[in-house]
Amino acid sequence: MTVSSRTQVGIVGAGPAGLLLSHLLALRGIESIVVENRSRAYCEARQRAGLLEAGTVELLRTVGMGERMDAEGLEHGGIYLQFEGERHHLDFRDLTGGRWVTIYAQTEIVKDLIRARLAAGATIEFEVSDTEVGDLDTERPVLRFTDAGGTRHEVACDAIAGCDGFHGICRDSMPPGLIQVAERGYPYSWLGILASVPPSSDELIYCRHEDGFALHTMRTPQVSRLYLQVPADEDIEDWSDDRIWAELKHRLEVPGWELKDGSISEKAISPMRSFVASPMRYRRLFLAGDAAHIVPPTGAKGLNLALADVTVLAKALTSLLKEGLAGPADAYSDTSLSRVWRATHFSWWMTSMLHVDPHADQFGAQLQLSQLRYVISSRAAATTLAENYTGYFPLTFQA
Ligand code: FAD
Ligand code: PHB
Repeated sequence: MTVSSRTQVGIVGAGPAGLLLSHLLALRGIESIVVENRSRAYCEARQRAGLLEAGTVELLRTVGMGERMDAEGLEHGGIYLQFEGERHHLDFRDLTGGRWVTIYAQTEIVKDLIRARLAAGATIEFEVSDTEVGDLDTERPVLRFTDAGGTRHEVACDAIAGCDGFHGICRDSMPPGLIQVAERGYPYSWLGILASVPPSSDELIYCRHEDGFALHTMRTPQVSRLYLQVPADEDIEDWSDDRIWAELKHRLEVPGWELKDGSISEKAISPMRSFVASPMRYRRLFLAGDAAHIVPPTGAKGLNLALADVTVLAKALTSLLKEGLAGPADAYSDTSLSRVWRATHFSWWMTSMLHVDPHADQFGAQLQLSQLRYVISSRAAATTLAENYTGYFPLTFQA
């Protein structure tokens, strides 16, 4: 038996994009359902991003999601760039006229949004299976799924948002031939750890070492997060905790500064990829976040882009569904893609400047070093990095 129902917006995926979209639509009086194939506990524990642009922080505050972020987030006014054994500070506030970034983990944003949506009486169906979207050529697309108890549902919607990440089903549900993909693979991966040890640095450290990139970041005053460049086909089983700490110290330590170690609670290897699908829309099916684009994490942009997409999408759906105005929905893909391509370029640039390319020759290595020396010695070059890192396109949302 299939249970039929109706809502205004069907949202596939309870990641940051799907959850924030549901929240923003509710602020505009638009009803939605969110379906998610994982459990709530899984979504709330999945270790991913940590760095929010100033505009993302301001957006979350404006829409009533800033309370815990303001209490627990760690504000940063710059980063360290390290190469050739020396560490250099970039002061974002000075370079950009006061802009900054905040460390507040994606896990915490997801927890805050799930709690707020459920408290407001919203429907989030966790642990669904066989999600499908259909009738895409009509003004009434349908969302189909089987709930955790095994009941099949068919929800008639005015619009559907594919917020189902890179491996979701919505992108592939678009008509064949519509989507153009531009992509770039990188011949290395990141090994990321979460460790119970206070951060060894006041700011994030991005380090180009001749044996590979390393990043020191953090989650709380008691928890550090660190990343190491490793070969693309690396097996996590080959990396004991001792080996990870030894390699991190080897790459990150400079005279007079030591990396504190501690017990590792989580370790994983993630591939690096740039991927942009366009257009991000077919009629009343809209893609947002990782469902439409992926950037390598060196620019810390993926989560910020996902939240920016749904901010634009919430406005477009409001115009479409409340005022019958199609203009903003028609512009959604182009509006989002211009931000996406800026972030894609920045992420590619940071990645190629800071990682050791196993196929590069002496020429390539010297170009990287020359670029790094330029960034720390020219105010114009440093400002380019700072304004992209803190967020080049400011976000706005009228609550
Ligand atoms: P997701 O978070 O992927 O959410 C999609 C949701 O859809 C998931 O919950 C998934 O279970 C669900 N789903 C998928 N298929 C279906 C289906 N068929 N039916 C129902 N539900 C479905 N970004 C940064 O800005 N900074 C970082 O430091 C950073 N580090 C990262 C580290 C890692 C290891 C990874 C993987 C990503 C990182 N990112 C980072 C990227 C960032 O985490 C993503 O850009 C962000 O999660 C995108 O959010 P999203 O909501 O679009 O997609
Ligand atoms: C993180 O805190 O996990 C993080 C921060 C900055 C990055 C990537 C990851 O560039």
